[in-house]
Amino acid sequence: MKKIAVFASGTGTNAVKILEYARQTGSYEVSLAVTNRTDSVFASRMLAEGVKLYVVNNAFLSCEKPLLEVLLEKDIDLIVLAGFLRKIPDELIEAFPGRIVNIHPALLPKYGGKGMYGMHVHEAVRTAQEAETGITIHLVNEEYDKGRVLFQAFVPVQTDDDAAAIAARVQKLEWEHYPRVIAEYLQELP
Ligand code: GAR
Repeated sequence: MKKIAVFASGTGTNAVKILEYARQTGSYEVSLAVTNRTDSVFASRMLAEGVKLYVVNNAFLSCEKPLLEVLLEKDIDLIVLAGFLRKIPDELIEAFPGRIVNIHPALLPKYGGKGMYGMHVHEAVRTAQEAETGITIHLVNEEYDKGRVLFQAFVPVQTDDDAAAIAARVQKLEWEHYPRVIAEYLQELP
C-alpha cells in the first residue's frame, strides 16, 4: 500500500478528512504526521488518532536531514501539505521530485505566493469582488505555488459574502476533493 506523510500547522481539518478517507477506502496509509506547531489542533488530532507525529522546529527545517531520514526510512511515497505554513526546503523538494502535493484555497495562479494563506486569501478575493473562487491542488516545486496543477474546483462568490463565508464554502470543497485527488495521483506514481 502507498504511504503518505501529512504536513500541517493549524487545525488539520483536511488532514482528518484524508485520514478518514484512507482508513475507509484502504487506498493509502497515513504513515506520518509532520508539524512545526506542537500546540496545534492538528498535532493533538493526529496523536489521538494514533498517527506518529514528527515535530520540526525552524532550525530543523533549514537542516532537514533527520526529517528526510525519517521519510525515507518509512518509505513515504508522497508528502501531502495541508496548511503547512513553512517553506519546504529545496533539499526535500529535490529528494521527492513530483512527490509533494499542496492544497491552496484559491484558483492559482490568482491569490498565490508569499503571505497568501488562510483568511488572507479569502479577504483578497472579497476585496477584488471576484465572481468565483475555489481550490487548487498542485505539485510543489522550488517556486512558491507554481507547480503543476493536478485539480481545481470552483465556487461562486456572492456579493454580500464576507471572508468567513467564502472560507466556509472553499473548505467544503477541500474536504470533498483533496483525499480522493491524493488517491488518484498516487496511482500515477511508480
Ligand atoms: C486550508 O484551507 C488550505 O487550503 C490552506 O490552509 C488551510 C488549512 O486548513 N493552505 C494554504 O493557505 C496554503 N497556502 P486545515 O488546517 O483546517 O486543514
